[in-house]
Amino acid sequence: MDPVGREVAERLEDEGSLVQAGVGDREPGLVDLRIAVEEDVEVEGAGRVPFAAPRATGRRLDRLEPFEQGARRQRRSQANDGVEVRALRRRADGVGLVDGRHGEHANPSGAAQRRDRCGEARLAVAEIRPQGHEHFFAGPLAAPVPRGSARRSARNARAVGSEGFALGHCREGTATIAAVVAVRSLPPELVTAVPGPRSVALAARLAEVESRNVTCSQPTPPIFWERAAGANVWDVDGNRFVDLTAGFGVANAGHAHPRVVDALQEQCERLLHAMGDVHPAAVKVELLEALARRYPGGGACRGVLLSSGSDAVEAAIKTALLATGRPGLVAFEGAYHGLSLGALDATWRPLFREPFGARLPGATAFARFGDVEDVLRVAGSHPAPVGAVVVEPIQGRGGERIPPAGFLSDLRALCDERGWLLIADEVYTGFGRTGRWFACEHEGVVPDLLCAAKGLTSGMPLSALLGRADVMDAWPPSGGEAIHTQTFLGHPPGCAAALASMAAIEEEKLVERAAENGALALTRLRASLAKAPGIADVRGRGLLLAVECDGPERVFRACVRALRHGVIALPSGDDGRVLSFTPPLSIDREILELALDIASDALAR
Ligand SMILES: Cc1ncc(COP(=O)(O)O)c(C=O)c1O
Repeated sequence: MDPVGREVAERLEDEGSLVQAGVGDREPGLVDLRIAVEEDVEVEGAGRVPFAAPRATGRRLDRLEPFEQGARRQRRSQANDGVEVRALRRRADGVGLVDGRHGEHANPSGAAQRRDRCGEARLAVAEIRPQGHEHFFAGPLAAPVPRGSARRSARNARAVGSEGFALGHCREGTATIAAVVAVRSLPPELVTAVPGPRSVALAARLAEVESRNVTCSQPTPPIFWERAAGANVWDVDGNRFVDLTAGFGVANAGHAHPRVVDALQEQCERLLHAMGDVHPAAVKVELLEALARRYPGGGACRGVLLSSGSDAVEAAIKTALLATGRPGLVAFEGAYHGLSLGALDATWRPLFREPFGARLPGATAFARFGDVEDVLRVAGSHPAPVGAVVVEPIQGRGGERIPPAGFLSDLRALCDERGWLLIADEVYTGFGRTGRWFACEHEGVVPDLLCAAKGLTSGMPLSALLGRADVMDAWPPSGGEAIHTQTFLGHPPGCAAALASMAAIEEEKLVERAAENGALALTRLRASLAKAPGIADVRGRGLLLAVECDGPERVFRACVRALRHGVIALPSGDDGRVLSFTPPLSIDREILELALDIASDALAR
């Protein structure tokens, strides 16, 4: 047994059942630590209490050192992200848990980081001091954790300037201690050329078996993702990237947010599938209630849960027809509402529409985005009577286009005047992306219908059409046969993920972080690209950011270069002349800045 192993063994004796550890023979220095999922532990003043930690807390740690030493080092190296703290201890005034985290400089070899999610994860801990029967205090945080809040994120703690954080509460003499894992963002780390040999080989295999319109392998093959955490993605060749796309704007709480993963694991073990519109899962009720509470403007809200963003748009279009009896729809130039046939009718880009024109109902007329007068004009010449206007409050795939201030509220007023429904497609912009829960809230606009997907779950295919109850009640009561449903409607794991993701967004104040970090990032991008050639505009709201260029070639080249330097970004806009950035809202500011600098460099060359 090597010295690390011995140290762990000694500590184990001391720490009892809190931690199990093992040292791999062929990996000297790597220690597999596991926190027991549920244990009774002695807490002074509270007797023996149950200790609960998330499942899957097995971590590989590369070094163990005394808490005090680790804490000193942690303070010293905070500034450069290099921290390594491993601590197991029990004190008279609290319970010692495990604090393990390390960053770039803590692990110069990088070997453990590549294999080890703990490289990015911080395993919670704190010194817990019972305070009567109402509160626990976390030592380093020195702030009371209110009754009932068993968890607090490391980010919250950092926001109050502490590296420690709270995690306990005391209820009627018993204490629950929850370990919290916060995934930190790491810089890119490349170990092969990009794409690496494994990605190249997979691309060749895929080309044999996948429809050729799907994954683009020309001129360079893609990287194949193997795992992701927070704002980082690892590919099959072991390269670590910063994801400035959040996987198409999905991972708002971060990839594989521990809370979402926990909720999914728990839900999957209990109930994987139910009968969505006949004998549904209980979690469907919880999610619809949570979504109703979030509906912009409040008021009675009803929803229907579906699978994709296009599904939500389809349901909105059907609702509008039922509610108004008028089939005509006004959408906007540059709009993207999905590719299923109904949604495609409202999607602008000819590339998507033309091959299928013969199957499109042609019920949509397109107005200039941001121009209310033009809405009136196209509605006037629409062959069908208009029942609704569908709008992205900020166009996403159309190139992160932000309409002039007042546009949305003027559109709301116009819809009210004409008796048209206003459908906000917030598939891209929802759940904090733009620095508000929903982008229409920037102008205080209450839509009649709202489409949500992507960031709703931070990673599961679930969408929702939400709407004012009086509008949604255009749907007839179900007589046992729902007229708009799906086999997987209200899928339980998706619902559980959505609830967990919304809770994480709220607890970690990710909406506020998106607003704050987005504003800083925009200023930085503008400064770094001020003298770069071929830049037409740099814009954004919250963490929906974009650089419009003089043509698609510059953007394409920049995406390839950025990827080769470990940053994932995507083109957007009708002809691909916009480089878009939609990172997880949880991305650490320094890593966001670093990744944007890499992307700016790639653009400026
Ligand atoms: C605004 C908007 N609406 C709808 C969709 C379609 O969503 P999905 O691809 O999940 O069908 C998208 C997808 O990017 C979108 O950005």
